[in-house]
Amino acid sequence: KGKRAFIAGVADDNGYGWAIAKSLAAAGAEILVGTWVPALNIFESSLRRGKFDESRVLPDGSLMEITKVYPLDAVFDNPEDVPEDIKTNKRYAGSSKWTVQEVAESVKEDFGTIDILVHSLANGPEVTKPLLETSRNGYLAALSASSYSYVSLLKHFLPIMNPGGSSISLTYIASERIIPGYGGGMSSAKAALESDTRVLAFEAGRKRKIRVNTISAGPLRSRAAKAIGFIDMMIDYSLANAPLQKELSAEEVGNSAAFLASPLASAITGTVLYVDNGLNAMGVGV
Ligand code: NAI
Repeated sequence: KGKRAFIAGVADDNGYGWAIAKSLAAAGAEILVGTWVPALNIFESSLRRGKFDESRVLPDGSLMEITKVYPLDAVFDNPEDVPEDIKTNKRYAGSSKWTVQEVAESVKEDFGTIDILVHSLANGPEVTKPLLETSRNGYLAALSASSYSYVSLLKHFLPIMNPGGSSISLTYIASERIIPGYGGGMSSAKAALESDTRVLAFEAGRKRKIRVNTISAGPLRSRAAKAIGFIDMMIDYSLANAPLQKELSAEEVGNSAAFLASPLASAITGTVLYVDNGLNAMGVGV
C-alpha cells in the first residue's frame, strides 16, 4: 500500500518542500501539502494554470499530483490563538481552518491517516539583523514560526500517523557554527529545532513508533533564502570550499528525505543528517 505524506511549507516550485514532495511522489507516495495562507491563492492558481508543469515532471515522465492543498499558518495552534487583526486580514479571511489543529483535523477527516510528516518552513522577521540588534519580539517570532511550529505540527499529526512512520524537518548549520548574516534569532531557532529533534524522537518513538530526523541542508536559492540576502555568497562559498565542488540541487535534499522516510532508514531516528556536499566537515576555508 502506498504511503501518504503531508508536507508543510510548499508555496512554489523552488524550495526544499517542493523537491521533497517530488522525491516522495516518485517513490509512490500520495502528496498533501500545507501552504502558508498569504501565499495560498498564488500557489493554487499557478498550479491550476500549469505554471509548475515543467517542475512537476517525475523521473518516469509522469506529472506529480498534489492530492490536496491545505491552507496553513503554523504560528497558530487553534482558532482561540488567532488575534483579531489576522482574523479580519483579507488575505486570511478568504480561507478557513488553517490553524495547526484544524489542518490535522481536516486531514484526518479527508484521509484518516498519514505516514510521513515534513516540516519545510521557517520565518524570522528580523533575519537580516545581527543577534545583538534583534528585538525580543523578533527573536520569539523566529522561534515560534521556525521551531515551535514543528513541535505543534508533530503533536497534532502524531495521533493520525501510522506506526513506523517518519517525520522530517529542515535545518541549517548556523545552529552550531557562526554564520554571520543568519540573524534575527534564526540561528537560535535552528538550534532549538535540532535539540527538539532528539527529544521528539524519544517521545514519538515511544508513543507511536514514529522516527524523527532533521536534514541540515546546504544553501539553495529558494524564495526564503533570497529574502535573507546572502544566498549567492553562501553558494559560492560552498562551491569553493566543500569537499564536493558542485552546486547543491534541491532534488538531492528531496532524495535524502525520501530515504529517511523509507524502510531503508528504519533504525535512524533523532539524527541531524547533513546534505550539504560535505561542507559541514571542513574546519577551514581553502
Ligand atoms: P521556501 O521559501 O521554499 O520555504 C519556506 C516556506 O515556509 C514558504 O513556503 C513559506 O510560505 C512558508 N512559511 C513561512 N511562514 C509560515 C507559517 N507561519 N506557516 C506556514 N508556512 C509558512 O524556502 P526553503 O529555503 O526551501 O525553506 C524550507 C526549509 O529549508 C526551511 O526550514 C529553511 O530554513 C530550510 N533550509 C533552507 C536552506 C536554503 O539555503 N534555502 C538551507 C538550510 C535549511
